[in-house]
Amino acid sequence: ARKFFVGGNFKMNGSISSIKEIVNNLNKAVLDAEVEIVVAPPALYLLLVREHLRSGIEVAAQNVYDKPNGAFTGEISVSQLKDSNITWTILGHSERRTILNETDEVVASKSKYATENGLGVIWCCGESLEEREAGKTIAVVSKQLEALKAQVSDWSRIVIAYEPIWAIGTGKVATTQQAQDVHKAIRDWLRGVSDKVADETRILYGGSVNEKNCGELSKQPDIDGFLVGGASLKPAFVDIINCRK
Ligand code: 13P
Repeated sequence: ARKFFVGGNFKMNGSISSIKEIVNNLNKAVLDAEVEIVVAPPALYLLLVREHLRSGIEVAAQNVYDKPNGAFTGEISVSQLKDSNITWTILGHSERRTILNETDEVVASKSKYATENGLGVIWCCGESLEEREAGKTIAVVSKQLEALKAQVSDWSRIVIAYEPIWAIGTGKVATTQQAQDVHKAIRDWLRGVSDKVADETRILYGGSVNEKNCGELSKQPDIDGFLVGGASLKPAFVDIINCRK
């Protein structure tokens, strides 16, 4: 069985004091032991979070570079993350794809480098509203997956996050059926890699997940967890982690 996975993506939000508050809240909460939990604060606060957060919850970067070290101003390396006990990274978030112009190939290259060097990757995909309305959702997600498959061989370190762009930060959550349909299509696509990869890879839903809509979504057969943005900054994040209790 796939272990349920809940990630919190803080994006470019928070301060020392507000992030300490989130950490304290998680530290004192009673959390479902059957859930793998990973939080992704801004890079500046990774060490602070790792130092104060209880063990058993992992910490992720929101991005990482695909070179070992050197003259890459502004970037952070995989070995620097591992040196700091940061064991995961998000890659290919739609905000990085659209605002920072990361291509499918760049995201795949970073995913390859990170997985080959021992980091877990929360790899994001998803379509725009225009693409959905044109009936291109599965084609868009498949193209993103193909680019990943062209470079990555160790799928055991990959968690997929399906995040329809029109549902991110909009309060417009995908219906459980819309989400399940795409998750099922992703799982079917993964069967082309291998049955093992299809059966074992967690597929998370992201996009306006909150404490009210998480319960129904979590019951879908191909939804193995969530990547939570805005709500991960609030106490309600605990309710999302515990949504199956
Ligand atoms: P929201 O939960 O704020 O919609 O963000 C989703 C997201 O982008 C998580 O990576």
